Amino acid sequence: MATINKNAAQINSMVVSNKRVGQYHQLIINVGDNADACKPGNFVAINVGGESSRMILRRAFAISRVSTNPTFGGTIELIVAPHGQGSKWLCAQNEGASLDLIAPLGTAFGIPTQPVPVLLVGGGYGSAPLFGLAEVLNSRGCRVDMLLGASTASKIYAPMEGKRAVNSLRIYTEDGSMGQIGRVTDPIPELIADLNIAVIYSCGPMAMLSAINSITHNTQVVHQCAVEESMACGVGICMTCVLPVANENGDISMLRSCIDGPVMDGSTVQWDKVGKTL
Ligand SMILES: Cc1cc2nc3c(=O)[nH]c(=O)nc-3n(C[C@H](O)[C@H](O)[C@H](O)COP(=O)(O)OP(=O)(O)OC[C@H]3O[C@@H](n4cnc5c(N)ncnc54)[C@H](O)[C@@H]3O)c2cc1C
Ligand code: FES
Repeated sequence: MATINKNAAQINSMVVSNKRVGQYHQLIINVGDNADACKPGNFVAINVGGESSRMILRRAFAISRVSTNPTFGGTIELIVAPHGQGSKWLCAQNEGASLDLIAPLGTAFGIPTQPVPVLLVGGGYGSAPLFGLAEVLNSRGCRVDMLLGASTASKIYAPMEGKRAVNSLRIYTEDGSMGQIGRVTDPIPELIADLNIAVIYSCGPMAMLSAINSITHNTQVVHQCAVEESMACGVGICMTCVLPVANENGDISMLRSCIDGPVMDGSTVQWDKVGKTL
């Protein structure tokens, strides 16, 4: 049975900056030397609500980027959508606020051993970990193309500097308010053929991940997806995050997406059985 990320540590961290970017908040958090162990795909579990909190469950957020700040040392970047009570509390934290977080958690995206063409697909804030991943893939010589999609323009997170690490970036919105009208999955078959894509990395709503898997099914394209199943504890204890996953013999078992994921081989996830009892 898989165990918690061996580098995970509970850290008393500090908010270095908190900027509003469109509908999201970009938080830079000082995690010291722990930043060295954080990889694209990993996530953090944050104790939200402060000392008087009744919000006992930690909230999960993908690590968007890792860097070293000359003043603060190792930092991580999170892109947070103010959604419910916990994420709104986090978005209200100012520079200097302290945060109790556990990092890094979960599995990371696998990096190809050869420089192959790859496609990154992000839905909504699902683009967050993809920019850091694009930088790593780019430094390994991969051709990197990116698709971002959302229902409307304000839900697209596409920082200007992120575009530097990709060969092309196409944006799709369902209402046509930014980029092209349509779903982010629409151009994938054509891009696979035109660019000879070897790996698709995806992060976003489960329906988007499932749709990508239908496209890559029966092809040679590897689909690495970061699943976003509801997580109550984030550290492998509560079993709320389980997903049906097949092993090499085809046997299906319920795996914890906080421990065996969030990055999983999309072809092993039994998408039609997600949310159902086996
Ligand atoms: C791996 C991962 C990465 C994520 N990355 C990002 C990101 O980069 N940016 C971002 O904005 N959001 C991200 N999210 C989503 C984010 O965790 C939620 O939006 C956040 O938990 C909402 O908390 P809230 O208090 O604002 O919302 P609320 O809806 O008030 O509370 C949600 C919390 O309640 C608990 N909960 C409620 N129902 C259930 C249930 N059925 N099963 C288990 N627990 C439940 C969980 O702790 C959950 O986190 C990610 C989620 C996961 C799992
Ligand atoms: S979130 Fe509790 S076991 Fe995965």
